[in-house]
Amino acid sequence: MQKTYFMIKPEIGAAADHLTRVVLGGLHTTGKSITNLAMRQLDRALVEDFYGEHKERPFFGELCDYIVGGPVVTIGLERENAVLALRELIGATNPEEAAIGTIRDLFGASLSNNAVHASANTEDAARELALIFGK
Ligand code: CMP
Repeated sequence: MQKTYFMIKPEIGAAADHLTRVVLGGLHTTGKSITNLAMRQLDRALVEDFYGEHKERPFFGELCDYIVGGPVVTIGLERENAVLALRELIGATNPEEAAIGTIRDLFGASLSNNAVHASANTEDAARELALIFGK
């Protein structure tokens, strides 16, 4: 079994609720087991730590502003091959390049507003799960 971290990024008003219901429904049908689930307002220091690998990138400030701009849905998932399976379900980082029917294809507006985040590998998953949910 493998663990991964999935996050529904802030969206506007009722859209967040709708997006969360649709995405969680989709996760159930793909057999993933949800181990942690909470809607939370993340503080900026935590978000800067979370996205620390992008600290030197020009979009870092905009990315952190976006994530602290409203509550996110934080989800821990567990299943076989969880990291890759979830990455396939959400599609490419840029919604314009995401495969048809993936979460970012359906809900992502742009590269910076791409609806969801999923851990890139098992090391990132362990770090992100510990940051968000504690050890
Ligand atoms: P995410 O999977 O959450 O990981 C880092 C995020 O940075 C990514 O999704 C995008 O939302 C954002 N991102 C990556 N590249 C760019 C870029 N060139 N311009 C703006 N945002 C970006």
